[in-house]
Amino acid sequence: MSRLPRAAFWLPVLTLSALAVGLSTAHSQSTNAPPAGDPLAIKAGPPNAQRGETLTKSCQGCHGPMGHSTESDKPSLGGQIPSYTTLQLAAFRAKLRPSQIMQAIAANLSDQDIVDLAAYYAQQTPRGAWDANAALKAKGEQIYDNGIVGRNVTACVVCHGANGRGSNYLHVASITHQSPKYTLEVLNEFKSVPDYKLAYPNAMHIVTAQMTDDELSAVTAYLSSMGAGK
Ligand code: HEC
Ligand code: HEC
Repeated sequence: MSRLPRAAFWLPVLTLSALAVGLSTAHSQSTNAPPAGDPLAIKAGPPNAQRGETLTKSCQGCHGPMGHSTESDKPSLGGQIPSYTTLQLAAFRAKLRPSQIMQAIAANLSDQDIVDLAAYYAQQTPRGAWDANAALKAKGEQIYDNGIVGRNVTACVVCHGANGRGSNYLHVASITHQSPKYTLEVLNEFKSVPDYKLAYPNAMHIVTAQMTDDELSAVTAYLSSMGAGK
């Protein structure tokens, strides 16, 4: 998998105060400016989702209308929490998160563009369900709701919520309705990152490190279509 380098992305993001990015956008009027020289710092006025929509013309070709992606290697953006989208775009722009395509695109975005785009996508619903094997999905739902007792795998629902939509306040990403291919890659990246001994985002390393390939596939099947047909 060529996406493994994303593992190297987390450490600089952590040390460069990922939280400051979230806070500075959540409270854009705050006088607490992020530390000088932080390549992830965002300085913008209040988010304007309408302006954000006008900027999505250059995103739709890959991420779909309203951020509903139809290609399994392009993440859906619709319904994502704004602090997560903001941080990812800032990280692509700072060339901290790998992706040739996204680094080139983010290079042209201003701080205001980033928060406006994030606000627009946050207002959209997540895309519809991807096809998933019913048995696999049922097993994944068990893990999502209950964790894996005896192996210290915390139930996903505790952090990501019953609907998988995460929490902007806690900086927990929305993880529902991504393609199975994309989700499985991300989970395997978390599994393979070194143990940074830090709570954020070490949570995902601790959770995935204990899971087998079959369990990761099951939870992936559930995430990609959760809520559908219930
Ligand atoms: C030519 C295709 C293409 C275009 C155009 C494009 N993207 Fe992307 N985008 C990608 C791919 C591929 C990825 C996955 C990168 C990776 O490997 O991690 C991605 C990832 C992202 C992510 C990270 C999502 C996540 O869940 O981690 C965000 C946010 C994003 N793009 C926003 C945008 C925005 C906003 C625009 C328009 C200004 C845009 N993209 C235009 C292809 C594209
Ligand atoms: C203790 C809290 C916690 C638990 C439990 C947890 N997560 Fe997470 N998860 C997070 C946080 C925080 C992030 C955001 C990390 C980041 O992006 O920096 C995240 C990110 C993710 C992502 C990546 C989103 C993206 O687009 O990059 C996936 C997928 C995911 N979690 C799936 C799961 C699954 C499946 C489980 C259960 C087996 C689980 N999580 C359990 C806190 C948790």
